[in-house]
Amino acid sequence: MKASTQPVLYGVGIGPGDPELMTLKAVRVLKGVDVIAVPKSKEEATSLALDIIRGVIDLKDKEVVELIFPMKRNQKELVEAWEESRRQVIERLEGSRDVAFITIGDPLFHSTFIYLLEALCRESPEDRFYNIEVIPGVSSINAASALSCTPLAKSGERMAIIPATYGYEKLKETIEEFDTVVLLKANKAIDGIITVLEESGLKENAVFVSRAGLAGERVTRDLDSLKGKELDYFSIIIIKKGR
Ligand SMILES: C[S@@+](CC[C@H](N)C(=O)[O-])C[C@H]1O[C@@H](n2cnc3c(N)ncnc32)[C@H](O)[C@@H]1O
Repeated sequence: MKASTQPVLYGVGIGPGDPELMTLKAVRVLKGVDVIAVPKSKEEATSLALDIIRGVIDLKDKEVVELIFPMKRNQKELVEAWEESRRQVIERLEGSRDVAFITIGDPLFHSTFIYLLEALCRESPEDRFYNIEVIPGVSSINAASALSCTPLAKSGERMAIIPATYGYEKLKETIEEFDTVVLLKANKAIDGIITVLEESGLKENAVFVSRAGLAGERVTRDLDSLKGKELDYFSIIIIKKGR
């Protein structure tokens, strides 16, 4: 499968949820590796990423390593978790086994794979070398755009992608500045987001997409129906100015 004899760590984007949106390359790499590493928050009972690949990849003869990435803001706890993940991956690579770290959407876009990459680079880069290959994936942004049939940008239009946790003032400024704004983690502070959109006169130009390609998928332009609701973590809002 690989040109070099050195074991490889693959960062594999598995797409936003629909297994049909996994690339041929992702499937080939996942079929070929010995070890599948899955990011999991402490709170999750199972890994969603693992559930997504299960229908396509036979896991019977593979080692599945769960790497815990806490959804906490405590820096010390986070660094300890990333270091532990690094140790787990290095142990397999040094045992001459290829590892594929699976990630929802794309591995280099708001993904836990980035933390693993950074932790690996911290490990004395002068005397250690690991083969790392990244397999890009269809991002949730593309899935939300496709599902809601909302073009992201054309011609000279400018687009911003920000986490909804960014702060309302900044959100307002960003909405004023860009033609398209995509809000990740749109489950957070939905009421505040709606207020900003009302004030900007853009509430009717926004679409909410949740769990794209997953059970419970939802697309709505009726943002008022979301007020005061507990929404799923896998939620995106796309705001288009010139709709
Ligand atoms: C940590 S980011 C992961 C982004 C991912 N690497 C990508 O390329 O799409 C998590 C956020 O991505 C968005 N997301 C991921 N999968 C999604 C899906 N299937 N449907 C809607 N939003 C999704 C949500 O906004 C969620 O809060």
